[in-house]
Amino acid sequence: MNYRHGFHAGNVADVLKHGVLLAILDYLARKPGAVTVLDSHAGAGLYDRAADGEWPAGIGRLESAAALPPLAARLVAAVAPYPDSYPGSPILARDCLRPQDRLIACERDPGVASRLRRALAGDRRAAVHCRDGWGGLKALLPPATPRCLVLIDPPYETADDFTRLATGLVQAGQRLSTAILAGWYPVKGRAAADGLAAALYRSGLARVLRVELLVEPADDPRRLAGSGLILVRPPFGLAAALAADLPAIVDTLGRRGTGGARVDWLSGETAAPSEE
Ligand SMILES: C[S@@+](CC[C@H](N)C(=O)[O-])C[C@H]1O[C@@H](n2cnc3c(N)ncnc32)[C@H](O)[C@@H]1O
Repeated sequence: MNYRHGFHAGNVADVLKHGVLLAILDYLARKPGAVTVLDSHAGAGLYDRAADGEWPAGIGRLESAAALPPLAARLVAAVAPYPDSYPGSPILARDCLRPQDRLIACERDPGVASRLRRALAGDRRAAVHCRDGWGGLKALLPPATPRCLVLIDPPYETADDFTRLATGLVQAGQRLSTAILAGWYPVKGRAAADGLAAALYRSGLARVLRVELLVEPADDPRRLAGSGLILVRPPFGLAAALAADLPAIVDTLGRRGTGGARVDWLSGETAAPSEE
């Protein structure tokens, strides 16, 4: 396995992914009902801020900005307890758990899963499964709690992760009728990202939102221009909050004044509410 998330940790893609993750978790915490978070591709949890890493262009820029919109300010506050590291999705989720909530983290690499177990420090609300996360979406869901957030964040080492993400979101979306789902994807050119959106559009799932944050134009399939999230049944109000906040984040992170943000519904905000 060549993928080394530590190099990428805290980059512009993590800023979008983790800012949205925190916004959803904050929304879920408004009601007392227990929540389960399933993180299908969890990673190691904590990453050193390596000198050669990508974090200075992502979280580093937010940390040194004079003013931030709420989504970015929330992320900067969430990473503040880890001054020499960058916390990944399972740590950010763990830090939001209340006593009644649960975290289920799948990580296929045994060494990485061991690091995650250490980072979670024996928290009894969190379970780390060293296993394939795609299979975990079926085997570990539905959860014991009535409310659920599923994050699917594959490494895209192979092109079929786009197809697997579309299939995973549609199948989980159909099976878990009230869960909130979030699937992350890189934007390198438009073809794969637009194919993913088209698959979700055709799926018949209701309330599917696409969110993208680009730091340069997506006109070269060899360059990472930014990233996106497909959100199934996002919290009410999140689309408007993202549309308000992302342009200012693009201004802070964009390269040479280029880039852009997109928040659009792939299927309308007309059907069942996102969670009970
Ligand atoms: C993008 S990183 C995860 C980052 C993490 N979600 C975060 O936001 O901090 C992807 C992780 O998925 C793991 N992985 C790759 N294929 C997997 C699979 N089929 N099932 C579970 N984990 C997998 C890799 O070892 C890597 O640690």
